Amino acid sequence: MLVSAKEMLEKAKAGKYAVGQFNINNLEWTKAILLTAQECNSPVILGVSEGAGKYMCGYETIVGMVKGMIKCLNITVPVALHLDHGSYEGAKACINAGFSSVMFDGSHYPIEENIAKTTELVNACNVLGISLEAEVGSIGGEEDGVVGAGECADPDECKMVADLGVTMLAAGIGNIHGKYPANWAGLNFDVLGAISEKTGDMPLVLHGGTGIPEDMIKKAISLGVSKINVNTECQLAFAAATRKYVEDGKDLSGKGFDPRKLLAPGFEAIKSTVKEKMELFGSVNKA
Ligand code: 13P
Repeated sequence: MLVSAKEMLEKAKAGKYAVGQFNINNLEWTKAILLTAQECNSPVILGVSEGAGKYMCGYETIVGMVKGMIKCLNITVPVALHLDHGSYEGAKACINAGFSSVMFDGSHYPIEENIAKTTELVNACNVLGISLEAEVGSIGGEEDGVVGAGECADPDECKMVADLGVTMLAAGIGNIHGKYPANWAGLNFDVLGAISEKTGDMPLVLHGGTGIPEDMIKKAISLGVSKINVNTECQLAFAAATRKYVEDGKDLSGKGFDPRKLLAPGFEAIKSTVKEKMELFGSVNKA
């Protein structure tokens, strides 16, 4: 069964750990993340960008695949299926398709428009018991064609959006999607501290989890981050393991060309990455 992310994130905020959101791209990704969550006895959030949604043949296909997998694999830990960086239309489409959680990213709108659109979605999500993530202050870097400049969020605007009744709030604090450049200034903990103080119990979301040093992740959690998004790191791990398999000539030996064999090292690499993150975020045995 899919669940809203509300309860798992409230528990994480209170218990000072974070739940990982891992983005999915296909069956192997989804299966690897679900099995790892079960093995680690950890709650988990499966993230779907709008681009990945199109790639996987639409939101209904994804809902069917995830629900079928949860049943077939006997997954009993809490799983939320979440739209990542949704447009207003995308959020509505996911709500209708059966997602248990959505993000509406209105950070590129003027704050008044972000608030107006977020408010409409708060009402729809509340009625249906779906969790809603809002965003203030854009996350830098590029993800699925959405490019953010990466300015830090204004703590007062964060408070305004948190007060709308969203479930969790993503706030830009110098984090970016994808690999971090060598001259990256690091997370801005002064801004995070100010946001945390203003927004109280609101679970805060850290995007761009790939490549953030462990000490910064731990400090961010201590300052109120309860959800951390990871995407690129699983992609890099999958690609490296697949490259090694082919470079070792394994696809040319016996039935090594069988996709179930060819994709197995990448699948295992995603599992290891997810496990590492769950241990770092402190969500192991928190299901
Ligand atoms: P990374 O790809 O940098 O891990 O970011 C993931 C993310 O924030 C998804 O919203």
